[in-house]
Amino acid sequence: MTPALRFMLNDQAVELTAVGASDTLLDFLRINRRLTGTKEGCAEGDCGACTVLVGRLTDDGLIYEPVNACIRFLASCHGCHVVTIEHLRGPDGGLHPIQAAMVEHHGSQCGFCTPGIVIALYGLWMTNPGATATDIEVALQGNICRCTGYEPIIKAALAAGRAGGQASDALAVERELVTAKLRDMRGERVELSKGGERAIIPADVDDLAAVLEAEPKATIIAGATDVGLWVTKFMRDISPAVFIGHLMKSKRVESEEIRLGAGVTYSEAAPLIRQHIPAAHDYWLRIGGWQVRNMGTIGANIANGSPIGDTPPLLIALGARIVLRKGAARRELPLEDFFIEYGRQDRAPGEFVEEVIIPTRPQAKIAAYKISKRRDSDITAVAAGFCLTVESGTITDARICFGGMAGTPKRAAGAEAALTGQPFAREAFEAAARAVADDFQPLSDWRASADYRRTVAANLFRRFWLEQSEPGLPVRLHEAVGA
Ligand SMILES: Cc1cc2nc3c(=O)[nH]c(=O)nc-3n(C[C@H](O)[C@H](O)[C@H](O)COP(=O)(O)OP(=O)(O)OC[C@H]3O[C@@H](n4cnc5c(N)ncnc54)[C@H](O)[C@@H]3O)c2cc1C
Ligand code: FES
Ligand code: FES
Repeated sequence: MTPALRFMLNDQAVELTAVGASDTLLDFLRINRRLTGTKEGCAEGDCGACTVLVGRLTDDGLIYEPVNACIRFLASCHGCHVVTIEHLRGPDGGLHPIQAAMVEHHGSQCGFCTPGIVIALYGLWMTNPGATATDIEVALQGNICRCTGYEPIIKAALAAGRAGGQASDALAVERELVTAKLRDMRGERVELSKGGERAIIPADVDDLAAVLEAEPKATIIAGATDVGLWVTKFMRDISPAVFIGHLMKSKRVESEEIRLGAGVTYSEAAPLIRQHIPAAHDYWLRIGGWQVRNMGTIGANIANGSPIGDTPPLLIALGARIVLRKGAARRELPLEDFFIEYGRQDRAPGEFVEEVIIPTRPQAKIAAYKISKRRDSDITAVAAGFCLTVESGTITDARICFGGMAGTPKRAAGAEAALTGQPFAREAFEAAARAVADDFQPLSDWRASADYRRTVAANLFRRFWLEQSEPGLPVRLHEAVGA
């Protein structure tokens, strides 16, 4: 066990012994290190003003990802390389190609969002030099600019891509050195404290199981995209906190199943979703913004028990299962059985989600829908996962799950019954659209009224039919307008 948090900040190694569970990376950067180029806007992961790059060691080597420093806890940076805007430079020590392109294309007015945007674009430029305008839009989903407008920023990003220079970039040149340094920082369990708060970073998943057996009431923190807000918005006490964002990262595809460790982030899972469940790819990219997808984990999207988490409706429709672990004991259960009622899940104190098993169902007709006020980075009003098996023109199995319609993600039993055994035809979907009205008694809240939710749920059956019956039909807005 070690009492020190160790990471790299730009070109310096940092070692800290006094670290609280609730200390954020942003406060450390701005207040402790006076690295004020990283801004604070919303303090809830929405605006991207606080974007920094975090480099971490993975099975594929050292990778750098843009994340929100405002909701990232300092303790979760153990063994990582934090890169702030102050570290950016061109090969000659002047402006970095992204910064030069932003100047050239007038990509900044008041400048408040600019460091965050430059860092997000830097993350993209390093990994996807040929990024298209669409790639750039996806990369900037989590960066809000209120005065420049995105057109000049996208032009700047395209120009920076054309300018190249990745091989001589500082982070590429320093890669081996940084990798070696980060490797040296990893190892045993870390326990930290400050001002009565405690933070624990388990060495591995067995160590996590042991920590939680000893401290079953500890707050588990994976990507902190929920828990971060408990601190920045609700001032909640989260100590003792167990940081697990570096654990349970396994990804395997076995006999038509994707097996993901609970700590796999949305970004890490995205290529597998795209390859094995292509119908859900667009949906996946509507979860949060890029920074949130780089931190938020699939295990936590389940464990948090939210009725509007975006993955459960899709995963339940596919028939996903989860593995829960407490100490050395493991149990597996269908994901739909995990959600008991609003605020209550089938998880004992000290137990944690270890793995998520997702059938890919290559023969099925699959769709996932998210209805929200904005397309990008918005909270869901209604989400739905559809998975239908059709044999010789007859629907032999229907699994349809909704989020935002009840206190938990829940299957639409009446609508499923209306479809099962019926010919795959418009009439069956009209019957299901009528039946779904009796499946749920949704609430009205600031996201949507109960009536709106009911109407939209029914219309999703019609949309599914249109999309499936005429695949080329521009049912989705961006297809209709060619965007
Ligand atoms: C700006 C923003 C946008 C967002 N957009 C979306 C969105 O579009 N769709 C959506 O669904 N969500 C969204 N979220 C919510 C959040 O990103 C997700 O719920 C995410 O999956 C949480 O993952 P995390 O690893 O960050 O969780 P954390 O904040 O680390 O943890 C969340 C909860 O899960 C528990 N937990 C974590 N891991 C485990 C485990 N392995 N076993 C048991 N308990 C565990 C924690 O104790 C905590 O109670 C958004 C959040 C933000 C800040
Ligand atoms: S300050 Fe807005 S995302 Fe962090
Ligand atoms: S330049 Fe002012 S918010 Fe983007």
